[in-house]
Amino acid sequence: MIFNEEAREFPQGFLWGAATAAHQNEGNNVLSSEWHDENRPGAPVELRSGDATDMFHRWPDDLDLLVSLGLDTFRFSLEWSRIEPAEGHISRASLAHYRAMIDGCFARGITPVVTVLHFSTPQWFAEKGGWLASSAIEDFERYVQAVAPLLRDVPWVVTINEPNLMACIPVFGEMAARGEPINGLPHPDSRYATVAIAAHRAAVDILRAHGVARVGLSLSMHEFIADEAGEQRMLEHRAALEDQFLDATAGDDFVGVQAYTCMRFGAEGLLPVPADAEQTKMGWEFWPGAVVAAVRHASERTGLAVLVTENGIATDDDGARIRYLEGALSGLRSLLVEGVDLRGYVHWTFTDNFEWMGAFAPTFGLVAVDRETFRRAPKPSAHRLGAIARTGRVGAMPGEGAPPPFPPPAFMPPKPGGHRVRPLGATVWEGVDYSLPEGYRTLTMDVYVPAPRAEPVACVVWIHGGAWLSGDRRYPPVAWPEGALFQKIVDAGMAVATIDYRHSREAAFPAQLHDAKAAVRYLRGFAQRFGIDPERIGVWGESAGGHLASLLALVDDPALEGGEGLTGPSSHLSAAVSWYGVADVTTMPKMADSPPSLPPGVELPPGVDLSEPFSAEPIDVLLADSPLPEADRRRLVSPVAHVRRDAPPFLLVHGQADGLVPAEQSQQLADALRAAGAEAELTFVPGADHVFMGADPLPLMDEAIAFLTARLAAAPAGPDHEAEPNDR
Ligand code: BGC
Repeated sequence: MIFNEEAREFPQGFLWGAATAAHQNEGNNVLSSEWHDENRPGAPVELRSGDATDMFHRWPDDLDLLVSLGLDTFRFSLEWSRIEPAEGHISRASLAHYRAMIDGCFARGITPVVTVLHFSTPQWFAEKGGWLASSAIEDFERYVQAVAPLLRDVPWVVTINEPNLMACIPVFGEMAARGEPINGLPHPDSRYATVAIAAHRAAVDILRAHGVARVGLSLSMHEFIADEAGEQRMLEHRAALEDQFLDATAGDDFVGVQAYTCMRFGAEGLLPVPADAEQTKMGWEFWPGAVVAAVRHASERTGLAVLVTENGIATDDDGARIRYLEGALSGLRSLLVEGVDLRGYVHWTFTDNFEWMGAFAPTFGLVAVDRETFRRAPKPSAHRLGAIARTGRVGAMPGEGAPPPFPPPAFMPPKPGGHRVRPLGATVWEGVDYSLPEGYRTLTMDVYVPAPRAEPVACVVWIHGGAWLSGDRRYPPVAWPEGALFQKIVDAGMAVATIDYRHSREAAFPAQLHDAKAAVRYLRGFAQRFGIDPERIGVWGESAGGHLASLLALVDDPALEGGEGLTGPSSHLSAAVSWYGVADVTTMPKMADSPPSLPPGVELPPGVDLSEPFSAEPIDVLLADSPLPEADRRRLVSPVAHVRRDAPPFLLVHGQADGLVPAEQSQQLADALRAAGAEAELTFVPGADHVFMGADPLPLMDEAIAFLTARLAAAPAGPDHEAEPNDR
């Protein structure tokens, strides 16, 4: 796949990522002064960091998720209290942990941005007097010396996160004691400002001496807005809060900009947020332009390359997050056009995490985290940012920029850790051999069952597409947000079994139906072992898999059941979802005559011709060597021929602009089911081509999952459990 470079608004190589910080994510940083304060007698329990997001253990999954979303940059920080748990004692195990994270980034093609100090310090350091102790710089230097060898090949190293905000923290305490309202950031304490700048400069020297390529600090910045009378006060405030720190970056390699909102000034100085302004959960003004103004100011004042190291909002309304992202990124794009040296955008934050003020209530994440299970669930904003990252276009929709489904890839490039994106929060049964048909390859399924679970769960059989000629149970269409499909099913509390079946050049129809039937019998036979409910099994498939899903749900003719794999259990189903499947081959136009179109912004590699999407007409290949009587084949392969009154409920979804399988196919099946007295829901997706190209597939997945959840919950209960078959 080649992108249409002209459509790109951000350059190739621009970094797209998400940020985290150790104390806010790792959990159980019991030796930090923050932990100590959170757990002092009388401190509110709900404001403790506790397990945080358990990133200390879950970072490999988090990195996998980040990549699967389409992002390429991960910012995280080292935790001083883990690395130097007691003064002068350096933990080699902790150093190895952080080096493994750096290597984990490289192995996945992620650019690590590592922060040496993100606010939290060891309790022993605080007990010595913290940053105002005479030994503070010396202690910090010893820590930086210890971590510098780890960072030698890290492309972006941030010495200190927001030294300017660090220097405001003691002022907040004084203001609170005086009962003064906190409208924004105050003038920082000059003693803290001086020591923070000195610590930064010392760290730069040490890191440079170890060969670190790019060293800088990150600053908490704002858009400064003043009315005429407030101009002078605004400039004074900005000088104290930002400019003295920007000036301290002289000689650095870059400056990290972190901006969330604006600060407004009048004659009296800093003003509260206007009463009628849209606010985030932090009580900050919703102000997407903040990061744009901040990057401009940082760039003008320092002349350095700029990396946005944090930007985002705390909200429960993910639509507002998307609006904020679009506003911020449109502004940043204009800065690039103006020639500002902006290198990347790192969103705050990756997962909902522990906030310094408000603990877990303010949700800044692109990804939600279940507070009980720690399961991660990407929000639509995560998929939006991923699509923007892949295409370099602010208007990109989820899935855009992913490789197009046509022509199907001839190979998959090597990828460390493999291509498969496993759903999180599931018991994994991978490569389960459900049928070993004589003379053919072994047929396998992967079953992901939500964990932990108290009761047997409903199960969805997923049937992949590929014109019966190709396709793979492990990979839903590459054009969809990676990993989203199976994750969503698991998140809805259902198991998913994704199955192999024989392709049409391996065996002709009805081998595919026989295989799918064998898979259902196997799941039902071993339901107890999998932890699934044998009476609540449904099917869902796309394209050729949609056609097979319809057949699987409709065909109850023993002559078409097949005898592969486990025989005995029934193959009946309680619900079916068919996405743009063939319903009646007798009314199908030739697929070769109706090539699909490509998603916007994507061009085909030279020499690839879409007018020949397949090497032969797929239905002809499927039926050519069929053992079924020639006169009957085209009827028997058509789901409409098997419609019956007691069919399970159907949801049929079809892109209205489907050039390969016309939307009338789903209409025909819906009409036939309804005419027979069965239940059929039909959704047409305006403007969508085959594989839902041109539409956002995520809400369509949600629709199918809601349908399956409801229909499988309503399925009549079966016996407690049946005796399992013998293992042989
Ligand atoms: C900090 C983060 C914090 C975020 C939102 C920044 O000042 O670097 O640690 O979570 O703002 O409050």
